[in-house]
Amino acid sequence: MSILVVGGAGYIGSHMVKRLVEQNRDVVVVDNLSTGHRGAVDKGVKFYEGDIRDHAFLKEVFDQEAIDTVVHFAAFSIVPESMEKPLKYFDNNTAGMVALLEEMRDHDVKRIIFSSTAATYGVPEKSPIEETDRQAPINPYGESKLMMEKIIKWADQAYGIKFVALRYFNVAGAYPDGSIGEDHGPETHLTPIILQVALGKRDQLQIFGDDYHTPDGTNVRDYVHVLDLADAHILAIDYLKAGNDSDVFNLGSSTGFSVKEMVEAAREATGEAIPAKIAARRPGDPDSLIAASQKARKILKWNPQYDDVKEIIKTAWNWTQKHPNGYEDH
Ligand code: UFG
Repeated sequence: MSILVVGGAGYIGSHMVKRLVEQNRDVVVVDNLSTGHRGAVDKGVKFYEGDIRDHAFLKEVFDQEAIDTVVHFAAFSIVPESMEKPLKYFDNNTAGMVALLEEMRDHDVKRIIFSSTAATYGVPEKSPIEETDRQAPINPYGESKLMMEKIIKWADQAYGIKFVALRYFNVAGAYPDGSIGEDHGPETHLTPIILQVALGKRDQLQIFGDDYHTPDGTNVRDYVHVLDLADAHILAIDYLKAGNDSDVFNLGSSTGFSVKEMVEAAREATGEAIPAKIAARRPGDPDSLIAASQKARKILKWNPQYDDVKEIIKTAWNWTQKHPNGYEDH
């Protein structure tokens, strides 16, 4: 039986696929390559190019392959873009989830691990954020993912499709050998932008606001390494395979870093100056997002290997230096 990785050519999905291949697990990838890269997936892995909202396409994949678990990464995830194009997010993320679950129901596939997000909490009630805290998104991206969480709960009740929803905080880093990494076009995420400045591909970093309610006024986020995240998904697969019930877990390091602290850590990790200037706030940014991650550690036995943000940045820097133009396909 195979694990179907939907969105397996994207940043997080491709790291997941590589990890599964390393562990000799049977894996099949679906990706529409709208933001993913064919070059991020090993040529030896079975790859279907298509969109999960395309019922005929998805049915064909489920007909062809003996799938017992789906891992779902095929979603848009850019907070500011979602503020401008909310329907794009509800269509691809929320409607995409419905299409995927319909196909799973029709093919009797009973397990799904999927990417949820810290953005479902909105402005947190308290910090660190626990899984049971209020979810009140302040951007369409977070709302689209909260809707996905709600939909899957009812699909579980009606069709017995068991799920693990993993609420990621800020994912960063790359495969340590520099073979795969983060490459978005255009890039909006903090770590790769900082590293493009370090590389000289951008003149300077713009820090979006220094008047937030945080110690140095810049946004605080909880950065987690992409491989630690991939490993949590594998633990979640095994957790469901062992017959455990559906559940939701935060994935973060439980430590917050401000934008200014990230720039400083990157200066140390790269030895480059990295000029930065304060710019206007970006719409949709909460002051601070820090995970309580004890639940994943306790129940999934998740044991993240990267607890130093400088080490996380170093792996991303290795990828950036080896691939200054990313996958060179856009
Ligand atoms: N930032 C800058 N300058 C930049 C880019 C980002 O100051 O050029 C700041 C942002 O304002 C924010 C922080 O850096 O405060 C991190 O921004 P990212 O765009 O890297 O990440 P987000 O926090 O907006 O969102 C990320 C993922 C989401 C996820 C969220 C959860 O993209 O999918 O983390 O915390 F939901």
